[in-house]
Amino acid sequence: MINKIVVVVGAAGKLGRLVIESLLAHPDVHVRALVRDPQRAMDLRGDRVEIVAFDAAKSTERERAAVVEGAFAVVSTLQGGPDIIIDAQLELLRAAKAAGVRRFIPSDYSYNIFTLPPGINVNSDWRRAFAEKARAERGDSFEVVHVLQGVFADRVVLGFLGLFDADNGIVRYWGSGTTPIDWTTWDDTARFTAAAAIDERQVPERLFVSGDRIDVLTFVKTWEMVHGKKLDVQRLGSLEELAQETDRQQKEQPQNMYAWLPLMYARGTYGGEALLGPRENDRYPEIKPETVEDAIRRNAV
Ligand SMILES: NC(=O)c1ccc[n+]([C@@H]2O[C@H](COP(=O)([O-])OP(=O)(O)OC[C@H]3O[C@@H](n4cnc5c(N)ncnc54)[C@H](OP(=O)(O)O)[C@@H]3O)[C@@H](O)[C@H]2O)c1
Repeated sequence: MINKIVVVVGAAGKLGRLVIESLLAHPDVHVRALVRDPQRAMDLRGDRVEIVAFDAAKSTERERAAVVEGAFAVVSTLQGGPDIIIDAQLELLRAAKAAGVRRFIPSDYSYNIFTLPPGINVNSDWRRAFAEKARAERGDSFEVVHVLQGVFADRVVLGFLGLFDADNGIVRYWGSGTTPIDWTTWDDTARFTAAAAIDERQVPERLFVSGDRIDVLTFVKTWEMVHGKKLDVQRLGSLEELAQETDRQQKEQPQNMYAWLPLMYARGTYGGEALLGPRENDRYPEIKPETVEDAIRRNAV
């Protein structure tokens, strides 16, 4: 019997697709997948998946009301600037609340944006700004749940961060190398998000879940142990030097986010200020998240 509709916005993106897959593992769930271009999302179609054309940046109030109608939860996996992360998500959240939706999960999926000081990572600043506005909308019957799980244990993500160059076997880090880092895979993040979306119980506003907590030097040892070969480990500088390098890149190449955004994430990751709070993994005992070692053995890292 189908008894829960979950709206996924950003449905054609990498995490959106995984969240849909995880939602469909629950037989009573029907997914309303919101995509900008349905032609590019035909593969998502299925008995329990409805594809709806929706542009979060251009939607009207009436369109927003229509896409959330009858839903139990709305999950956002949108990516974008403040117009999307703050403004568009907020409009959709308000439509969800007005429609009697139980829960809204914004597109965070990050380290702890709430303990990271402002001004370190623009992406985290936008998500925190959204969270502050969203808090005013919460109530007894409307929840806003921030899923926070650390860095994705994935070679592409670690490549983007500049942490791991898998092709050349190089690990680069800033700081002491011994600051703990929280890690969770894409799939496990999607599983926890789906479980939280359809949870009949009240879900904490900040849902901390994760697969592992190890520092970068332990990551190196684990990778070397699994693969039986050495990595080239390079310390790039202190955290102060990382901050200076971030500022320099931002001044020299303000339009080129690839020059400074990874450095901002590096500061969040190596600075130790954005560690997750107490883990809530046990709320969903059916999910057995992978450790970093598991992810390395699976060749995801
Ligand atoms: N913790 C980590 O290590 C980590 C790593 C990666 C990502 N993340 C987080 O995970 C979340 C999802 O990331 P992702 O990599 O899955 O992103 P993605 O693949 O870029 O997907 C984002 C989706 O948002 C959609 N979108 C953007 N603007 C839209 C609009 N105006 N209206 C409707 N849809 C719009 C895009 O639609 P189109 O398909 O039409 O372009 C795309 O499908 C983000 O919050 C990201 O920060 C976390």
